[in-house]
Amino acid sequence: MGIFNKNPRNWRVKSGQPLTEMDKRILAIQNKGHLVPTRDLIKTPEQIAGIRKAGVLNTAVLDLVAEKIHEGMSTLEIDQLVYDFTTKNGGIPAPLNYEGFPKSCCTSINEVVCHGIPDAEEILEEGDIINVDCTTIVDGYFADASRMFIIGKTTPEREKLVQVAKECMEIGAAACKPYSFVGDQAAAVTKHAHKNGFTVVRDLCGHGVGNKFHEEPDMEHYGKKGTGMLLVPGMVFTIEPMINAGGWEVFVDSEDDWTVVTDDYSDSAQWEHTYLMTEEGLEILTY
Ligand code: MF3
Ligand code: CO
Ligand code: CO
Repeated sequence: MGIFNKNPRNWRVKSGQPLTEMDKRILAIQNKGHLVPTRDLIKTPEQIAGIRKAGVLNTAVLDLVAEKIHEGMSTLEIDQLVYDFTTKNGGIPAPLNYEGFPKSCCTSINEVVCHGIPDAEEILEEGDIINVDCTTIVDGYFADASRMFIIGKTTPEREKLVQVAKECMEIGAAACKPYSFVGDQAAAVTKHAHKNGFTVVRDLCGHGVGNKFHEEPDMEHYGKKGTGMLLVPGMVFTIEPMINAGGWEVFVDSEDDWTVVTDDYSDSAQWEHTYLMTEEGLEILTY
């Protein structure tokens, strides 16, 4: 229970209506002072089917990037691949014009943590590590995922950072049991990053997704067990820890007001999937 949690009564039951097993379970947790979801965060089967479809196209976009990415290519060329493939297949790239973002995906190289803007002048070099983050809208539903790519041969340090960042996402996902808290996941991610000598960015987090680009809950990746929102079956959210080789602090580049960079210019890596919480645990919707 965080100090910011004022025990909002998110889970409400209509007067006179019998309580389901789910109602009883959530109300008991809410009554202990935990933050619980509102009903609109629990997706209907129809919404899940829609998000699943967006996930299939988003995965195909990232597979195309994986196939085409190479040394000497500009990040604008990556953006053009993403835009063309997405629109030709009936999707819309969600980043384009999102809160003024000018391109169709984010391309974040080396010390860039996230939200890098594709640019014709930015050329991929041997040894670079780059995150390509794509979000696709199909029939109004959103799916969001990102991967790291290593350009040619890189250093052992960068290879380890990319690998550990992926493990952090997977370990975070494994910690997301039904009726666990966002903080249980955050604690697992934080432990794995620190064990490997890395840090977890604190100023940015994952998020609910599906009906909109960014929904509740905030999926913090740095934190303590038992804090944050309760995660119950039917919720859809991303896990996308940003892992730094140096300190956790970051800043936003004043040139474009988007690009997030590590404060000490150390390298950063991130992987992201969109997940559905089921009775058995998480299912990846962006495979
Ligand atoms: N895809 C990012 C995320 O994982 C958000 C990018 S916002 C943009 O949440 F405007 F930069 F595209
Ligand atoms: Co993303
Ligand atoms: Co995201």
